[in-house]
Amino acid sequence: MPALFSPFHLKDVTLRNRIAIPPMCQYSAVDGYTNAWHFDHYAGLARGGAGLVIVEATAVSPEGRITPGCTGLWDDAQAEGMARIAASIKSYGAVPGIQIAHAGRKASANRPWEGDDHIAEGEPSGWQTLAPSAVAFGHHLPKVPQAMTLDDIARVRDDFVAAARRARDAGFEWLELHFAHGYLAQSFFSAHSNRRSDAYGGSFEGRSRFLLETLAAVREVWPEHLPLTARFGVIEYDGRDEQTLAESIELVRAMRRGGLDLLNVSVGFTIAETNIPWGPAFLAPIAERVGREAELPVATSWGIDTPALAEGVIAAGQMDLVMVGRRHLANPHWSLEAAQALKVEKPTWVLPAPYAHWLERYRAN
Ligand SMILES: Cc1cc2nc3c(=O)[nH]c(=O)nc-3n(C[C@H](O)[C@H](O)[C@H](O)COP(=O)(O)O)c2cc1C
Repeated sequence: MPALFSPFHLKDVTLRNRIAIPPMCQYSAVDGYTNAWHFDHYAGLARGGAGLVIVEATAVSPEGRITPGCTGLWDDAQAEGMARIAASIKSYGAVPGIQIAHAGRKASANRPWEGDDHIAEGEPSGWQTLAPSAVAFGHHLPKVPQAMTLDDIARVRDDFVAAARRARDAGFEWLELHFAHGYLAQSFFSAHSNRRSDAYGGSFEGRSRFLLETLAAVREVWPEHLPLTARFGVIEYDGRDEQTLAESIELVRAMRRGGLDLLNVSVGFTIAETNIPWGPAFLAPIAERVGREAELPVATSWGIDTPALAEGVIAAGQMDLVMVGRRHLANPHWSLEAAQALKVEKPTWVLPAPYAHWLERYRAN
């Protein structure tokens, strides 16, 4: 059996294989509420055979949405639709996960297909953004955020806790804190965006504080027997990579001590002026190093888009899970494609019987 199709155990959860679908925003919610699009989308992904399906970046507060179309869990009523999605994912044999997020200074943007830029000043659909310091991202996101007060920081941390509790009660079994991609938590960690001189800025300890406090507070409500994970950008590709990586790994170690069970390794995306070496599985060696040095299970995505690549990084022990994103939008049955390519005996076992039975017969004939 290929390594990609070996089960993965973390806490009390078992994934049927090493294929995970990373969070992918659908930008199709209204006031944070999910609808038929989300239900069908996630059901289709879960039917396709992946071991883990992580629901998109779901905002912990209205101002934490990237766009007006982002999902939310700041209200108990929003959890009802999410509970239906979690149950549906589970019914197809995948583990239901969710990413909870606050977009910080990158919030209040138009949907990608509507420009991906900040909603123009004065437009009623936009809102005031929050960040550690009043420093804009620039370029297509020029809006200057409001520097957070200590009360704001405590409130957003509590919003993460409340969203985690709702995710738990909605039946999710895997929680991912969005600490990556230049959103709020990542922007606390990066000196590019954090210019604070109080306890939440300055030194490594100061810039780590918001992330560690949020993790600790969420750990209090997230069940001990279920995986608590985070996505974090460990590198910016801004020319200071070794220094950033060393600090990031130090922080990941602290997160492990604080109860983190797995890291979804990613890029910081805190600034636009970077030199990212895009290419097939380019983050795999970085993920391997983070996993080894922080002594934590790891996963990563970005261009792990062929069965051979996915099998290679798992078999080599570079990571515990592969996160395959866009290929799953093209083919929700990517797991079947991978099982066939890797010559898994009876590859259709990844599918539910109403599909598997006919495809097995079809192949046999
Ligand atoms: C439509 C779309 C939406 C995304 N939304 C999120 C998100 O909600 N949270 C997140 O951490 N990453 C998000 N990403 C990044 C993906 O999780 C993933 O890292 C990226 O697509 C690279 O993996 P791939 O090469 O397998 O597609 C998104 C990507 C896409 C294509």
